[in-house]
Amino acid sequence: MSSTAQKIIIDTDPGQDDGVAILFALASKELDILGITTVAGNVPLALTSQNARMICELAERTDIKIFVGCDAPLNKPLVTAENIHGKTGLDGITLPEPTMPLQSMHSVDFIIETLRREPEKTVTLCTLGPMTNIATAFLKAPDIAPRIKKIIAMGGGFFEGGNITPAAEFNMFVDPDAAKIVLAAGVDLTLVPLDVTHFALTSQEWIKNLRALNTKVGEAVASWTDFFERYDKEKYGSAGAPLHDPCVIGYLLRPELFTGRHINVEIETESPLTAGATVADWWRVTGRPANAFFLNTIDRDGFFELLTERLSLYKY
Ligand code: BDR
Ligand code: CA
Repeated sequence: MSSTAQKIIIDTDPGQDDGVAILFALASKELDILGITTVAGNVPLALTSQNARMICELAERTDIKIFVGCDAPLNKPLVTAENIHGKTGLDGITLPEPTMPLQSMHSVDFIIETLRREPEKTVTLCTLGPMTNIATAFLKAPDIAPRIKKIIAMGGGFFEGGNITPAAEFNMFVDPDAAKIVLAAGVDLTLVPLDVTHFALTSQEWIKNLRALNTKVGEAVASWTDFFERYDKEKYGSAGAPLHDPCVIGYLLRPELFTGRHINVEIETESPLTAGATVADWWRVTGRPANAFFLNTIDRDGFFELLTERLSLYKY
C-alpha cells in the first residue's frame, strides 16, 4: 500500500458479489482498508460477519479488522435474499470455517471513532449493503457527516427500476429509512444503481479464465459467479451475473470508466407498493437541489479488465 492510498471503510452484507468487491479492494494498493463493517442484508448478521471473515481468510488477510454492526433495519423487519445468494449467503463453494477474530467494538462505534480520529475528509465509506450502520452512526454522532470524504453506495435504480420489487433495488428496499438519512446528510454521495450494475455482467469466458488462474481465489470467484448467475439468467434472461458491489470499488479506482449526473434523489419510505424506490430526478424537473452523483453507464470491458488484473494478483 502506498502512503497516498485512499482510506476506506467497507460496509457490507456478504453476499457473493460483496465477496468479489472485497477481494478486488484487498488486491488494490491504492486503497487502505481501515476496517470492514458488517450489516444484516443478504443473510442475517451472524452469517454476513462469518462470510466477511471467510473472504479475508481466502485472501490471506487476517490483518483486516472486521466489526459487527446492526442486525436489523432502522424501522422494519429484516428482509433477506437467500433465494439469490443461497442459505449461507456465499453458496457456490465450501470455504474453511474461519478462525480470525471479530473485533469487539460495534461497527457503528468504529465508524464514528474512525471519522473523528482521522483528518477531516480523508475517509471514504463504501457501502455494499443496506445503509443501516451509516444512518445509525449519523443519528448517534451528527458531527461525523461533514468529516466524510465521500460515500460510494451500491443502491437504487432509475431506468432499470427494481430487482426485489418492481420499484425497489434490494439494498434500498431493506432499509429505506437509513437511505433517507444518508441522502439528506449533505455528504458527497455517489450512487451506483442497477442502471450501471446490470451492465457489469460476467461471461462464461471470464469464469473460465478465472479457473485457469489455478488459485483458490480464482476458483472461489468462479464458483460464486456460477451460483449467483443462475438467478439472473432465469429472471432477466441475461448472459451472466451482475457484479453489483464490485462496481463501487471499480468507481473508486477508475471513475473515468463510469458516467453519471449530479441530481436530486429521494427515497420512498411509506408506500407498500413502492417502498425503497429511488426517485431520481434524472431530467431535473423538480428544482430540488442535487444531493447525489447518480451513475448511469459503465465501460464494461474496462471494468472487467481492471477487476481481472487485480484478481490475478492473488497467487494462492
Ligand atoms: C445488491 O443486493 C445484494 O443482493 C447484492 O449484494 C447487492 O449489494 C443488489 O441489488
Ligand atoms: Ca451487497
